[in-house]
Amino acid sequence: MPPARSSLPHRALGHTGRDVSVIGLGTWQLGADWGDVSDEDAAAVLAASVDAGVTLFDTADVYGDGRSEQIIGRFLAAHPGHGITVATKMGRRQEQRAENYTAANFQVWTDRSRRNLGVETLDLVQLHCPPTAVLDDERTFDALDGLVDAGAIAAYGASVETVAQGLRVLGRPGLANVQIIINPFRLKPLDEFLPAAAAAGVAVFARVPLASGLLSGRYTTATTFSAADHRSYNREGQAFDKGETFSGVDFETGLAAATELSAVLPDGVSLPAATLAWIVAQPGVTAVIPGARTPAQATANAAAASALDDPEAYAAFDAAVHEVYDRRLRAAIHPQW
Ligand SMILES: NC(=O)c1ccc[n+]([C@@H]2O[C@H](COP(=O)([O-])OP(=O)(O)OC[C@H]3O[C@@H](n4cnc5c(N)ncnc54)[C@H](OP(=O)(O)O)[C@@H]3O)[C@@H](O)[C@H]2O)c1
Repeated sequence: MPPARSSLPHRALGHTGRDVSVIGLGTWQLGADWGDVSDEDAAAVLAASVDAGVTLFDTADVYGDGRSEQIIGRFLAAHPGHGITVATKMGRRQEQRAENYTAANFQVWTDRSRRNLGVETLDLVQLHCPPTAVLDDERTFDALDGLVDAGAIAAYGASVETVAQGLRVLGRPGLANVQIIINPFRLKPLDEFLPAAAAAGVAVFARVPLASGLLSGRYTTATTFSAADHRSYNREGQAFDKGETFSGVDFETGLAAATELSAVLPDGVSLPAATLAWIVAQPGVTAVIPGARTPAQATANAAAASALDDPEAYAAFDAAVHEVYDRRLRAAIHPQW
């Protein structure tokens, strides 16, 4: 399979010298926590994305305890010359305590990801939403610089939960990217964080762009999720930060907001496509990384970048995003993340 770089716009990945497609692929779904996705379906999701021009996969050592990385590793091995950048994450296979984020553990964690992915050097490793103290600690970044010097990783970044965490990490000179939730239900990063990241030359990956599917436009009050799906078991933050499930938005509030956003779209433009195109258009965003459970979702998402190319359609959707957020969501969401 030749790399299909031409079919999607690309943007610089911070100071790394790499560029990545503006729409990437999130692969949490290929590990666990979203109900069952078979090995065959997982491989087909990767292939569909790359066929559609995606050159960025986001994964983590903890997704399926390595399954997502291993599936990607097999895909990379089968497609030499693929041109794909793999962004993985580390730090959530152990308890989230600052003292666990040591140089020795970073070595062990990245060695495991190198084996899972079948690569000598990891393209990009992101700290996986560590405690704030880890982001404030000089030793964290000394250790990461050491891994770069040793050739274990080419670059590093940080996935964060809050705007405050994103802002405090931007000053680190070696930092390639910050990953943070940005979507029509999560607008706070637009105020201060995105301009600051752009000024610092740090790439931004927008995660949970479809609010875990709430912005798919497919769910109703009757929609249910399997017991093995975090949309069942983490609704109130029982397993990890509540903000990672439906963006922290109450399900019924999110349904009502999604319905209002859908109503302003022209015929033929779906809510998920408009949402992804709108995120890509926010100044300072490098790439959006929607998760997909099926090849059809992956293909549709990769095709979404141009969904709001009509300026009137963009303006109407943008106005609705801000109006609906201010009316329904701001009071609950803005102070938290
Ligand atoms: N702490 C962190 O660093 C962190 C946390 C969360 C996520 N992430 C990363 O960010 C990625 C994206 O976030 P996410 O996967 O949590 O949430 P998301 O991208 O907001 O939502 C993914 C879900 O949206 C639905 N969907 C996707 N494409 C669709 C389409 N074209 N049409 C209709 N529905 C569609 C699917 O729901 P159904 O399953 O119902 O089909 C899919 O499972 C993850 O995969 C992961 O790589 C990182």
